[in-house]
Amino acid sequence: MSSVNEVRSAFLNFFAKNGHERVASAPLVPRNDPTLMFTNAGMVQFKNVFTGLEKPGYQTATTAQKCVRAGGKHNDLDNVGFTARHHTFFEMMGNFSFGDYFKENAIELAWNLITKEFGLPKDKLLVTVYADDDEAFDLWKKIAGFSDDRIIRIATSDNFWSMGDTGPCGPCSEIFFDHGEDIWGGPPGSPEEDGDRFIEIWNLVFMQYEQQIDGARTDLPRPSIDTGMGLERMAAVLQGVHDNYDIDLFKALTSAAANVTRTEAGGTGKTSQRVIADHLRAMSFLIAEGVLPSNEGRGYVLRRIMRRAMRHATLLGAEKPVIHELVPVLVREMGQAYPELVNGEAMITETVRLEEERFLKTLSRGLQILEDETASLGKGDMLDGTTAFKLYDTYGFPLDLTQDALRTRDISVDLAGFESAMAQQKAEARKNWSGSGEAATDQVWFGVSDQTGPTEFLGYETETAEGEITALVKGGDVVDALNAGDEGFVVLNQTPFYAESGGQVGDMGVMRADNIVVEVLDVTKQAGGVFAHRVKVTKGSLKRGLALSLAVDHTRRSAIRANHSATHLLHEALREVLGTHVAQKGSMVSPDRLRFDFSHTKPVSADEIAEIERLANAIVLQNAPVETRLMGVDEAREAGAMALFGEKYGDEVRVVSMGTALEGEKAGKTYSMELCGGTHVKRTGDIGLVTVVQESSVASGVRRLEAFTADGARAYFADQDRQLKAVASALKVSPRDALSRVEALVEERRQLERQLAETRQKLAMGGGAEGAAEVEEINGVKFIGRVVDGLQPKDLRGLVDQSKKQVGSGVVAIIGVTEDGKAGISVGVTEDLVGSLSAVDLVRAGSAALGGQGGGGRPDMAQAGGPDGSKGEEALTAIRTLLSGA
Ligand code: ALA
Repeated sequence: MSSVNEVRSAFLNFFAKNGHERVASAPLVPRNDPTLMFTNAGMVQFKNVFTGLEKPGYQTATTAQKCVRAGGKHNDLDNVGFTARHHTFFEMMGNFSFGDYFKENAIELAWNLITKEFGLPKDKLLVTVYADDDEAFDLWKKIAGFSDDRIIRIATSDNFWSMGDTGPCGPCSEIFFDHGEDIWGGPPGSPEEDGDRFIEIWNLVFMQYEQQIDGARTDLPRPSIDTGMGLERMAAVLQGVHDNYDIDLFKALTSAAANVTRTEAGGTGKTSQRVIADHLRAMSFLIAEGVLPSNEGRGYVLRRIMRRAMRHATLLGAEKPVIHELVPVLVREMGQAYPELVNGEAMITETVRLEEERFLKTLSRGLQILEDETASLGKGDMLDGTTAFKLYDTYGFPLDLTQDALRTRDISVDLAGFESAMAQQKAEARKNWSGSGEAATDQVWFGVSDQTGPTEFLGYETETAEGEITALVKGGDVVDALNAGDEGFVVLNQTPFYAESGGQVGDMGVMRADNIVVEVLDVTKQAGGVFAHRVKVTKGSLKRGLALSLAVDHTRRSAIRANHSATHLLHEALREVLGTHVAQKGSMVSPDRLRFDFSHTKPVSADEIAEIERLANAIVLQNAPVETRLMGVDEAREAGAMALFGEKYGDEVRVVSMGTALEGEKAGKTYSMELCGGTHVKRTGDIGLVTVVQESSVASGVRRLEAFTADGARAYFADQDRQLKAVASALKVSPRDALSRVEALVEERRQLERQLAETRQKLAMGGGAEGAAEVEEINGVKFIGRVVDGLQPKDLRGLVDQSKKQVGSGVVAIIGVTEDGKAGISVGVTEDLVGSLSAVDLVRAGSAALGGQGGGGRPDMAQAGGPDGSKGEEALTAIRTLLSGA
């Protein structure tokens, strides 16, 4: 028996042995194609290699490619479970030649693999070729030795393969296996071809053309080969079973599904067991790649798959979540070939469990409504659209789930009614939208959103992708084109560019296509989830429908990631050190710094900051993976995730967790868990280092920390280091001794200043230590008047007092001229003269001469100042004049 794992290895080994490069499966979310929802064939990752745009280091390759056909162009979802060969997820084995070998070798390789390695009997095989492809016809004859009747010419698109509306394409030749007379059906091209007897197992595409968007077909640079062999189908053939669901892999999954639902494997619940087995694969692989259930785009396709599986579990009698219990079984079966399943096992299990819990809350109520509303309906009737919409909107029933539930009773759904109920709800939402507040701008974006729907954000998983232009806006209007030199907005169906929100700034980067270069300056989120890329077109011109390759500025985004994750760590560390009253009041995450505002009534001390840094950096050093999950808001809060108080969240939120607490109450538990839609580092070690560079107050009761991380922190310390070294060198000491040297200098300066002040005072008192001030006599009153440079106003009063003592009875006026050329003046009148003279009057006269105004004090002592210190002598003269009574 050949297990699925053995068939996969045998295929890859065979082509590796024949010189092919083994290339890993590309992700299910295509990185290089904006028109595809999911990777649906092996050649998708090589699209640009076929057209010559990309040159890998090999000319032939082989892969096992993960494919999903649910949603978008190829949608097999509705059929899964009811047929022998439909899957939402499957593996496509392929071999590829990029201008190396062509038809002959391709046919030869395929023939050798299936007949020699796999040992399929020739008489069970037949092939098709494109109607006018005589070359392929002759080659099959030559290589396989088939008679003419076993090489069937097909003229339809069945034998002309194209990936989608555009891209590489060419005629193909398909290999069929005859499952035998017991099964109804005829060979391809016959009236009974839709029967199950003859099954296509391998498609060889002779890639020759590229389909352009305008309908034209151009030649590829060199004829190439793309093949696709359905792994599950081939395994069925090799295991001697007719039905894909009877192969080893599916048997393991369906019997596990039977087990958890306590039903008999393959019994009456067979269809539901198969639906669960198939959908389990699709959901697990999508979640492993970071797609999470949501109400839009890919996330919604995932949700539909998950909920369809969940309803089928309910049909089997499950009353509690069971599907997540099957994840380990899948990991056991497929984990070796796809390590992402092993790595993601916990995350997948938990995401599935949460979705099950969420949906089970409304499922039975919804099913009851469905039953009540359709009780009176019979075969061929239609369920009204309003009920279908209510089930969708309130009970989380995707439309196709409602259809699926009614399928066996042959009841359809009024789709037009469903759409109009949906449109009505959107109109309501628009009325209640409180966007930027600029009604005119909002109107434009509403118009865009009505046309394009929300933009799908790919930037959690990738920084490069392709996107198709869905709208262009310039100067507040929707326009047909943006030309070189123009600034405006580009809207795409999907984008890796983050739109500013939750404090994290929008991404920058470039968009390109042939002869087109566009600089992305900023990205904001507009009405209806439309991402507006503010751009400047530097080369070429943009039109709707054009595909652009998009690249986020990686260095800038990495810095933003580090700063955002560090913000979460600081938030938690702040709560730990200052207390749980700390709540986020605002934040700003840019590439060069992070800013975090929080409630706290007093400054955070240097010691506290040091402790906060220590705790945050301990988690950085853990190099712990940063995990993102989707949860219901209430579940998230229950789990202890921090949320912004008063913030309105949707039903589902992203929850970002990092690190394990090493100490304190939370020791051993997750360190930081926050509701967050931002982008984060993969592991905390990517933060490098967090350092708080400033603490300040922003409003009463709100403090602000500013911090650097990673390269910013390194640059900051390098700069500090440079400055310290410059200081040390100026001081002529080593950096280590700089502080004590500075302290010594400060102390020395303090002493020198004191000495200087003393000396000046002595000078003021009479020019020297022993000498006394010169005493004049004016109008019978003794007068001492002096102008002294370098005396501070605060020193004047003491000097005046001393001079008053010296003179016994009289008037003293001292003017101090400061270093910046201003003057202070102090006048004293001895007690005995206070009756006839006022220090206040005298000081005012002096101050006026100094260009000042007023002055004040008591009759025996008054002070004033003036801006013009050069007028000191004039001021004394003014006082003398007043004393002389002139
Ligand atoms: N790309 C071809 C297919 O999907 C092989 O059938």
